[in-house]
Amino acid sequence: MSIRLRSLRWLVLYLVSSSVLAAAPDGVVAVSHPAAAAAGARTLAQGGNAIDAAAAVQFALNVVEPQSSGIGGGGFMLIHLAKTGETLIVDSREQAPAAATADMFASEGLAMPFPLASTSGLAVGVPGTLRGVDTALRRWGTMKLAATMAPAIELAERGFRVNHFMAEDIAHDGGRTQLQPETAATFRPGGVPLAEGDWLVQRDLAKTLKLIAARGPDAFYRGPIAHAIVKAQQRTRNEIGAAGQGRMTLSDLAHYQVAVRQPLIGHYRGWTLAGMPPPSSGGLTTIQILKLLERFPLGNAAQGYGFGSPKTMHVMIEAMRLAFADRAVWIGDAAAVPVPQTGLLHPGYLASRSALINPDNRMLTPQAGNPLPWDTSLAARPHASRTHRESLHTTHFSIVDRWGNIVSYTSTIENTWGSGITVPGYGFLLNNELTDFNFMPSADAAEGNPGANDVAAAKRPRSSMAPTLLMKNGKPVAAFGSPGGATIINSVLNVILNLIDHGMTPQQAIDAPRLSVTHATGPVSCEGGARFMQPRFSVATQNALRNQGHTGLGEAGTDGCRQTIGSVQAIVMDIATGTHNGAADLRREGAVIRVKPALALPDSRL
Ligand code: GLY
Repeated sequence: MSIRLRSLRWLVLYLVSSSVLAAAPDGVVAVSHPAAAAAGARTLAQGGNAIDAAAAVQFALNVVEPQSSGIGGGGFMLIHLAKTGETLIVDSREQAPAAATADMFASEGLAMPFPLASTSGLAVGVPGTLRGVDTALRRWGTMKLAATMAPAIELAERGFRVNHFMAEDIAHDGGRTQLQPETAATFRPGGVPLAEGDWLVQRDLAKTLKLIAARGPDAFYRGPIAHAIVKAQQRTRNEIGAAGQGRMTLSDLAHYQVAVRQPLIGHYRGWTLAGMPPPSSGGLTTIQILKLLERFPLGNAAQGYGFGSPKTMHVMIEAMRLAFADRAVWIGDAAAVPVPQTGLLHPGYLASRSALINPDNRMLTPQAGNPLPWDTSLAARPHASRTHRESLHTTHFSIVDRWGNIVSYTSTIENTWGSGITVPGYGFLLNNELTDFNFMPSADAAEGNPGANDVAAAKRPRSSMAPTLLMKNGKPVAAFGSPGGATIINSVLNVILNLIDHGMTPQQAIDAPRLSVTHATGPVSCEGGARFMQPRFSVATQNALRNQGHTGLGEAGTDGCRQTIGSVQAIVMDIATGTHNGAADLRREGAVIRVKPALALPDSRL
């Protein structure tokens, strides 16, 4: 079946919903933008599998949500193959160039100011998204790269309506759409920021996508686009001069490689999770927090727990503080530094860490633990690394096809609008992913600090991206993930607790307000800024947390839970009925589209 994108618009309007759709044995896409969801649905309707549809969605997102992800960035794609039951990760995380050094974001013993460093070419990592998508397609897809790019090319050439979220991101861009002329020309034509409802055509981007469709990824990694990328990332900010110039070379681009990894597996109350291994902290830290919490009856209101109770929120905060203390010291690119994964997830180690949580009192600022005795290598006690703020943007989508193949994919250009540098003549934004590294080198052999996330040549910066697959009795039941920098981990965690401990439906689990702490010191971020976020965290609960010494909630008696955290797009597989559903997030323009199977099903190649 072949459906033109334009004629799919009615279908989008008809089927797009932020609530769970009626059950049916269909393919389902859940994406943060309806036009990108339609690209995935069109691909499924043409007989493509989940990997083909994921490619189409990612390219379309590059057009309609260019501030969050694209071929100038990187990501982590979790793939579950129905036939073999295998789950694997395509890691297309950006890499530091060969000339990167541990002190490149430091100047005269001080970290460069983040706003300057992150909008200079120095922050640009070697992009991985295109190689990642191409690798996934070649190995597990059924369609050609060019076919999966067709919807994106149409969207870039013909244009699309700027939605509320893009308009807001332009209006509140921290200067990133204004600093470089090519970016300003696209998103602020004539100096006027695009507003909701404006029509956006991206001719340069369409040309680039056509070039890649015609010549393959080498046009990007070795051809004319590579030359343009190298030149563009030599741009710097006057305030930091040559120190802010990117160090990427043609050789770095030509040698970029994706890694196909095994997922990290964790267990929680009889459920199994497959999550991201390093260089993402997504899987390790999520599983750590769950294991620290497992001894508390979080769903039991009779014992003072239950959703949104002070007790539940307190122990969640404490578990997050402990796990993020470990994350700051121990997690980085395991190809470059030893990451004690076995120790960090060892039941003995986790029991010793969980014992630090007092259900009635807030602990003092926790230090990272020492998982090394529970592991096989090294044996010194660490001191915390300095960390810096992390961006709140990125994107996540989830897809299941009619055969049961699943993709859960988080991708990013790091900050909203990335580095703010559009590659001249090619119309796509470059990432600022290298700012996910420590700005100041932290490795210290005497102190036992491994410098897990210090910059190094060809290293991947630590990520928080956490596409996750939830399984019961060995069968996939849900796949989801979120954008949001370090808060990604907590968005995924909140959804897991809502599903497993609080018995919510997938849509309720996504709608419910979230709680997040991303540093050992706090502070607490919590939601309540939109009406759909139910049930609310009451002011009485917030007062109880304040009285325990938790910070970030504002004045006593006020509602300090006003934030918006993440944007979770999920697909759900009902084991009992064999049906597939989706649930999407109103925190962006989340869209679920269900695609009915064609009458004559082409066999999946998987
Ligand atoms: N840049 C966001 C992340 O990797 O977590």
